[in-house]
Amino acid sequence: MGSRESNRLQNGGIGSEEASPPCLFVIIGATGDLTARKIAPALYNLVHENMLSDRVAVLGVARHPRSDEQFRQEMGQAIATHSRSQPVDEGLWNQFAKRWHFQVADAGDENSYRTLSARIKELDERYKTGGNRVFYLAIIPEAFPGVIHSLGVAGLNRPGGGGAFARVVVEKPFGTDLSSARELDALLLGNFSENQVYRIDHYLGKETVQNLIALRFANAIFEPLFNRQYVDHVQITTAETAGMEGRRGAYYEASGALRDMVQSHMLQMLALTAMEVPSRIDGTSIRNEKVKVLQCIAPLTPDEVASRTIRGQYAAGPAGPGYRQELGVSPESMIETYVAATLYVDNWRWAGVPFRLRTGKRLSSKTSHIQIVFKREPMSLFQEMGCDARGPNQLTVRIFPTEGISVTIDGKVPGPGMLLRPVRMDFDYGSTFGSASPEAYEHLLLDAIQGDSTLFIRDDEVEASWRIIDNIRSSWNMAGMPKLVMYPAGSSGPDEAQSLMNDPYKRWHPI
Ligand code: BG6
Repeated sequence: MGSRESNRLQNGGIGSEEASPPCLFVIIGATGDLTARKIAPALYNLVHENMLSDRVAVLGVARHPRSDEQFRQEMGQAIATHSRSQPVDEGLWNQFAKRWHFQVADAGDENSYRTLSARIKELDERYKTGGNRVFYLAIIPEAFPGVIHSLGVAGLNRPGGGGAFARVVVEKPFGTDLSSARELDALLLGNFSENQVYRIDHYLGKETVQNLIALRFANAIFEPLFNRQYVDHVQITTAETAGMEGRRGAYYEASGALRDMVQSHMLQMLALTAMEVPSRIDGTSIRNEKVKVLQCIAPLTPDEVASRTIRGQYAAGPAGPGYRQELGVSPESMIETYVAATLYVDNWRWAGVPFRLRTGKRLSSKTSHIQIVFKREPMSLFQEMGCDARGPNQLTVRIFPTEGISVTIDGKVPGPGMLLRPVRMDFDYGSTFGSASPEAYEHLLLDAIQGDSTLFIRDDEVEASWRIIDNIRSSWNMAGMPKLVMYPAGSSGPDEAQSLMNDPYKRWHPI
């Protein structure tokens, strides 16, 4: 990408007037959960919002055959269940559905990928896509190598015409550790070039996560405070009520919270919070700054891992059975469903400021937010008036359930005397802009079709993140390390998480 890249953060966002280029959107793994829950509803909503060219067609690919008509019916049901805009506009879907097709193909059988290639050419011509193609790999990680290899063998790694594009969108997890991530990258980059590869982290498609960039770099009031002089610590939380719904247990057994959430979403949020001012608001500049933050997170010694991280697992509790009773989970599983960790970004801006991360499944509520907690005033003038039990000044970026930004300060309680109380100033997306935010996948699918990789992850970011995760995991595997702690399903996580910080000011805020 050049220094004058065009991107959605500059061009007016998903609501801009620009139509998408024509293309064939090929979903490999079209019968899976992700297609039903996220990809199909996102494509429908893009059409609903008039964001897709009517020369965008969809080809679902999977190993078990079905007719175009069956596939359309399945997707219609998925959209009716999972679309954010309800009720679904039947007329609109029936029109769009005519451009949805299905092709059976098995990556283990190169011939079937040649047949796939022929079908793609036929659809290119029918829809006048100009040979533009996006391949979305909505498949389990074990299937990646076969599919990527077969795409290459069938020549589908090359665009279908002069001036056209062929892009591949890869879902997380990008490997399970640094070395497997490198292998995956070698495979990808053996068949595609880096600028064809779009590594998705759906958190970057969330409106408020992007708004963090606006908050920090479009406003002069906060940026001077974002450093070790004024920030006491940062808390980043993603709590979920969900456990291993459906078929997730088997995947999670090979992953755990550290690899599933911290390696990707949590470290990306940390990087956006801590990064330096980019030279421009474009993909290269933003990713250059994010990767520097990740590289500044120094490896932890085993003692530091013992004192700065907690891993937990949900046991039976008010919200239901324990993790070990879930489908596809070993009854003796030692996999963590909760992680709390304190990391430090060792650079001039942030030296000594704890970045506290916590994430867990089957907690008491679903919430995601970033809290920047500021230092106390140098001395308290109000203590002698009995006002010393006040909350910290805090900037909160709310990602879920309500998207917005809040500033918490101390204010005077009306009436005689001087009584102070924390008060909150809220900016709320829904009420300010009067419309529901698009789903993260809508942003990201449109970006992939438009060729804007700003909100996708670069290979060096993936590597830097895995280095941090592998470092923690290798200490966890050592003898004498604090063991997994249990917490009741439906609680706010293990009590031990609080003990990661002695200073009460730095304790976790309630979920
Ligand atoms: C996914 C993880 O990437 O993010 C899931 O694999 C997790 O385990 C999900 O539930 C959380 O996403 P969101 O958008 O619901 O916070």
